[in-house]
Amino acid sequence: MSRWINSVVGGAPAVIGSAGQYASTNPSRTHELVADVSLAHPETYVAAARAARAAQRDWADVPAPVRGRAIAHIGRLVESNAETLARLVTQEVGKPYAEALGEVREIVDTCDFFLGEGRRMYGQTVPSEMPDKQLFTYRNPVGTVAVITAGNFPVAVPSWYIVPALLCGNTVVWKPAEYAAASANALFELFTRGGGLPDGVLNIVHAGGAATYTGLEEALAAGLIDKVGFTGSSAVGAKIGELTGRHLQSACLELGGKNPMVVTADAELDLAVEGALFAGFGTAGQRCTSLGTVIVDERVHDDFLAAFADATAAARIGDPTQDVLYGPMLDAKFADRYEEHLGWIAPYHKTLGSTGVGRITGRNRRDGFVGDPAEGLFYHPVIVDGLRREDGLFINEAFGPIVGVTTYRTLDEAIELANAPGYGLSSAIYTTDPKAVFAFRRGISAGMVSVNNSTSGAEAHLPFGGNGKSGNGSRQSGIWVLDQMTRWQSVNWDYSGKLQKAQMDVVELAPELDFRL
Ligand code: UN1
Repeated sequence: MSRWINSVVGGAPAVIGSAGQYASTNPSRTHELVADVSLAHPETYVAAARAARAAQRDWADVPAPVRGRAIAHIGRLVESNAETLARLVTQEVGKPYAEALGEVREIVDTCDFFLGEGRRMYGQTVPSEMPDKQLFTYRNPVGTVAVITAGNFPVAVPSWYIVPALLCGNTVVWKPAEYAAASANALFELFTRGGGLPDGVLNIVHAGGAATYTGLEEALAAGLIDKVGFTGSSAVGAKIGELTGRHLQSACLELGGKNPMVVTADAELDLAVEGALFAGFGTAGQRCTSLGTVIVDERVHDDFLAAFADATAAARIGDPTQDVLYGPMLDAKFADRYEEHLGWIAPYHKTLGSTGVGRITGRNRRDGFVGDPAEGLFYHPVIVDGLRREDGLFINEAFGPIVGVTTYRTLDEAIELANAPGYGLSSAIYTTDPKAVFAFRRGISAGMVSVNNSTSGAEAHLPFGGNGKSGNGSRQSGIWVLDQMTRWQSVNWDYSGKLQKAQMDVVELAPELDFRL
């Protein structure tokens, strides 16, 4: 059963004509249509921003604890629809069902965290330097928030923006990935119905990248958008950062990663292999937090590599409705780009982990494949040993089931290699030495550090975000995202009945600074 999907602006289906149709298909069975999506013109984007702007004042006037109740109800509704939503995510982007359920859980976790924030949103009372004067701070909503998200986490990552944005009294225009439109639409329904949100508080615009950029540019120029939250590639993130910078805004950017995993000589190798397998190949390597390169102490390189290759060769891959490590690529666009990235494998590299490299087909078989590979966009897992620091695969995010391996001699060298690509999202170290843990933590440029754990799989209430090519330092999740979705306002109230000038009319006490014991 496929769906017709349209943008929803101010509570009603978009009326401005369609800019074309997009067929969202099942990447495990590419002939299966999941949804027919009507793509919007830039005018629809601007109309959505206008609807959000018009609804914002009234939404901000709803008391924050009442907004918190809306978030509580959304969380409950998502929870009671968890299986259906997870099945749709599996169908539309090919994420194994168990992972898809985890993704839905992450929305519920986010709602659980923020439902109480409506009763906090703490400001401070601060002592004044003058009598009969009070100082306060308040968090004000930023206003209207443009959320633009990728489809590898088609429902969880959007909720990281939308839940705190709404809770803080903002209204939202959400542009999800086209290839995840049905999952996005389902989440939109759950939010609007569960939250009882007034029309215009949450709007969804299905559009291509170019139309979105033009629409955003026009909406920013018209003063309709106050904050942009973007999850996607570093290249597009840089464009969004540039555009918002021209309007004196700083976007919340969650971009790519080339996430390193350092394995020291004293590490528990079995644990490191298990971590590398999930971090590198889980979600077919299509998380921003996926493992890029294993940097292993040269003394344990051979043992680690042999065990990692065996574990990878034995992993079940295929039909994501079954119990598999990973399923297909998200969409044909991602498969095509990944095929280009496979070109980074050089003759001096050694490849391990499967019975072939590249697309899994009847001819290029994968032993133990679950299902029929010809139906979908399935790729062999590949471990590439012998990476050099000038290699394309060492430097760039690959976004597919490929993990590089290189060696180091000293921990300083390992940290230097880990930072060298210039990303800075997630990182991991496998070690039993606390000194190595803390040296790594201090030296690594990443916003997130795992110790004896996968680079992926961050919990939903810790600061999530990166540095360098991974982002502009913004952080999502937990209390930290409040600084993205609100602006501090400081208030001073003088009730002395006269003008007391700060720094000038301040009482001086007379210290005896020459006094000595
Ligand atoms: C992403 O790939 O954009 O930490 C987000 C993780 C997930 C989120 C990934 N909780 O791997």
